Amino acid sequence: MGKKILVLPGDYIGPEIMAEAVKVLEVVDDRFRLGLELEYGLLGGAAIDAHGVPLPEETLASAREAEAILLGAVGGPKWDHVERHLRPERGLLAIRSELQLFGNLRPAILYPQLAEASSLKPELVAGLDILIVRELTGGIYFGEPRGIRTLENGEREGYNTYRYSESEVRRIAHLAFSLAQKRDRRLCSVDKANVLEATVLWREVVEEVAAEYPDVELSHMYVDNAAMQLVRAPKQFDVIVTGNMFGDILSDAAAMLTGSIGMLPSASLDQAGRGMYEPCHGSAPDIAGEGKANPLATILSVAMMLRYTLGNADAAVAVEAAVSAVLDQGLRTPDIYSDGQQRVSTTEMGAAVAAALQE
Ligand code: IPM
Ligand code: MG
Repeated sequence: MGKKILVLPGDYIGPEIMAEAVKVLEVVDDRFRLGLELEYGLLGGAAIDAHGVPLPEETLASAREAEAILLGAVGGPKWDHVERHLRPERGLLAIRSELQLFGNLRPAILYPQLAEASSLKPELVAGLDILIVRELTGGIYFGEPRGIRTLENGEREGYNTYRYSESEVRRIAHLAFSLAQKRDRRLCSVDKANVLEATVLWREVVEEVAAEYPDVELSHMYVDNAAMQLVRAPKQFDVIVTGNMFGDILSDAAAMLTGSIGMLPSASLDQAGRGMYEPCHGSAPDIAGEGKANPLATILSVAMMLRYTLGNADAAVAVEAAVSAVLDQGLRTPDIYSDGQQRVSTTEMGAAVAAALQE
């Protein structure tokens, strides 16, 4: 029996980008004799259509058995009308929570070939290499009580709860510090401790954990300032650690610095390092079926899977080098296209990476 990888293509462009990532994964499997065994499952809208729920029991059962999960993207207008608790995004949140994938790694790396595609001036982003570590199974995304209720005066009120326990903060802080140790050893913890008690405690606990990592320089920043600094002088950051909602927002902003959200992979890890790997972007309904989607974020997610869960750094580096090679060849999907380059489709991009990997 090989190592089981559960593949969840998802919705809209999900299956298109996943087909390319699988092409690449099959070449790596062969070249590095990984003995992988791919199994497919349904999550999100695709699962709602087939089973009426966004995270079917059988998907969750396969996910628990798998070594790693590769996810495309879920959601889209087709399921806008379904009840709130059955929306495709709920499937994604549920699988993160059920598997306790609390550590979300979102690297924002600028490929020098794409400096032109960044929304910032080249000198501000040249060499950019940031890692955002987002807490993924707590905070306001999961806090209870939550809901929409009717007040005595008949007006409705929406409410959510922002909460973090010490142990939740401690485990994400440990992950972030240990990742910082392998990089430039600078960690910035982002909070809103001037207003929110939950983040006053967050800051306190991060400080406590810092004592165990004297070689890492810790700083703190309020989230509004962090948003500003990210677009003002992004290279000041090495690793950022933050809660679920702030991480969601800051990682989209960081993505744009690198030229396109179509380039950014992510890893969501549990305590044992098992994980789910997915691009940071969504299901892009507006371009689905047109061959315009950039498969590189999903392909780079394969690289993260090789590095973090399968523990094969050589294979990860080979995939990343193949991506860099096709960018050197001038191949560009529409999201990263600029004059003088060669415009390619989703499948052409995937095939080019697979070919570069075979060489
Ligand atoms: C992300 C997405 C999800 C999130 C949505 C689709 C639920 O925006 O992974 O960043 O908010 O976590
Ligand atoms: Mg998001």
